[in-house]
Amino acid sequence: MGLYGAQIIRKALTEEKRVSTKTSAADLVTETDHLVEDLIISELRERFPSHRFIAEEAAASGAKCVLTHNPTWIIDPIDGTCNFVHRFPTVAVSIGFAVRQELEFGVIYHCTEERLYTGRRGRGAFCNGQRLRVSGETDLSKALVLTEIGPKRDPATLKLFLSNMERLLHAKAHGVRVIGSSTLALCHLASGAADAYYQFGLHCWDLAAATVIIREAGGIVIDTSGGPLDLMACRVVAASTREMAMLIAQALQTINYGRDDEK
Ligand code: IPD
Repeated sequence: MGLYGAQIIRKALTEEKRVSTKTSAADLVTETDHLVEDLIISELRERFPSHRFIAEEAAASGAKCVLTHNPTWIIDPIDGTCNFVHRFPTVAVSIGFAVRQELEFGVIYHCTEERLYTGRRGRGAFCNGQRLRVSGETDLSKALVLTEIGPKRDPATLKLFLSNMERLLHAKAHGVRVIGSSTLALCHLASGAADAYYQFGLHCWDLAAATVIIREAGGIVIDTSGGPLDLMACRVVAASTREMAMLIAQALQTINYGRDDEK
């Protein structure tokens, strides 16, 4: 069903879209986001009627995002909606699964490059069947770092966003990249094509599947405070090593986005 959803996304990518905004003028949604989300949920619900769902567009329509001990699917039907709207071909479907609040597996599909990233707790991470390994880099001055801007664009938030980027560049990171899809950026980290990722303002559906994939590729996913990841806290540092993750966490100033489970 994720792959069928990806076919729908691929076809719609170059077509005219009806675009609406959610929390800000940069937080976009199209009819395809809704269509793919409904398709994924209805198929999963038919197979697993007792399971719960947390999904991006349902949440935007007011559904509560509470992660209980029950088996829960955490879904982003189109990650990179802004890319999708602009026909920029970096878009993914992301599906994570948690039981007893523990992430068990994750699947992320790069819709245009047809790359399927998978991770299952204790069983490794793969891309189209090839094992994934993080780079193992520990030195920030040798790192390629990825981030995403997040939806808020008020002057105070933008100032903090740019100053965080500046801090990493002052620390002599080789580069900072923004590709417009947090899940695919996190997959690049899992593949060893980048050394770290940080963001304020991403949601549990951006993080759930990718967290399993990165951990199973040998990487670290933590809170920006340097403590354990809180899936609902809308902030993350992920890196190839704990040393790198801590260096980045220490460099960052917090941007407050609230929590997914308090909206
Ligand atoms: C967003 C994208 C974006 C990131 C946001 C995400 P969406 O997901 O990954 O790059 O900055 O934080 O929420 O809205 O395209 O599913």
